[in-house]
Amino acid sequence: MMKSHLEKNFRPKIIVCESEELVDIEAVRTIQQLVLKNLQAVLALPTGNTPIGMYKHLVQLVKNGKLDLSHTTIFNIDEYYPIDPLHPDSFASYMKQHLLDHVSVGAWYIPRSDSENFQEEAVRYQEILNKYQPIDLVVLGIGPGLTCHIGFNEQGSTIDSTVRYIKLSPETIQANTKHLKDPQTIRDGGITMGIADILLAKEIVVIAKSKNKAEGIQRSLEGAVSSDAPASFLQLHPHVTYILDKDAASLLSTDYQKGIIYKTL
Ligand code: GLP
Repeated sequence: MMKSHLEKNFRPKIIVCESEELVDIEAVRTIQQLVLKNLQAVLALPTGNTPIGMYKHLVQLVKNGKLDLSHTTIFNIDEYYPIDPLHPDSFASYMKQHLLDHVSVGAWYIPRSDSENFQEEAVRYQEILNKYQPIDLVVLGIGPGLTCHIGFNEQGSTIDSTVRYIKLSPETIQANTKHLKDPQTIRDGGITMGIADILLAKEIVVIAKSKNKAEGIQRSLEGAVSSDAPASFLQLHPHVTYILDKDAASLLSTDYQKGIIYKTL
């Protein structure tokens, strides 16, 4: 699984945007550039609060005839487990609400959250994903505070981790519960792509907005590469771009800020 480029640390490209909306626009620009070059691009996409604006702009672009997603293949990075896929809090429902009910894509894969056996489901999802690796682009959010999780790869996730069931951390549960339509039902588990799956992609984009992400961004970019901060493993990938708003970038050291690309309207 180890690839030679995973043996050294790379400095990612960092784009800091004046507003949250510019983060959305920049992220969509990356997707658009990729798909214009390769109509059959394979993407892994996130859920959460952060990318809602990105999906809004993506849908707009398709509706305006500037982008065609109908030959792309879309993977979801993670999904709650267990949850009825039709439940409004499933990531499957999220994807329909924000993307798939509005535009057509070539194929869409997401872990089956109603599968009876999560181990079998992890094997099934891994097999599909492996057929498409190396996928062209993974877009990631990052977990709250210092969890530094990517997908549902919580602290403790290792560089060789692959698709699996994972128990969510109390911080993740707390942060995510705020966004649930049915907050009475605790969602404390998920099926996620692993760190190794993410690192196999040709290109990775991380989007983050707000002060709540600042510590985690600083830790992931400037701290040691370790399982304490799963996003720090991205330092080992040569083609990573962080698209941040000013708040999420606010704790980066002055030294690290050199080389940042700033975007204003
Ligand atoms: C969630 C998801 C991640 C997401 C992250 C950030 O738990 N599993 O895929 O990127 O946490 O979510 P938000 O954008 O709501 O802060």
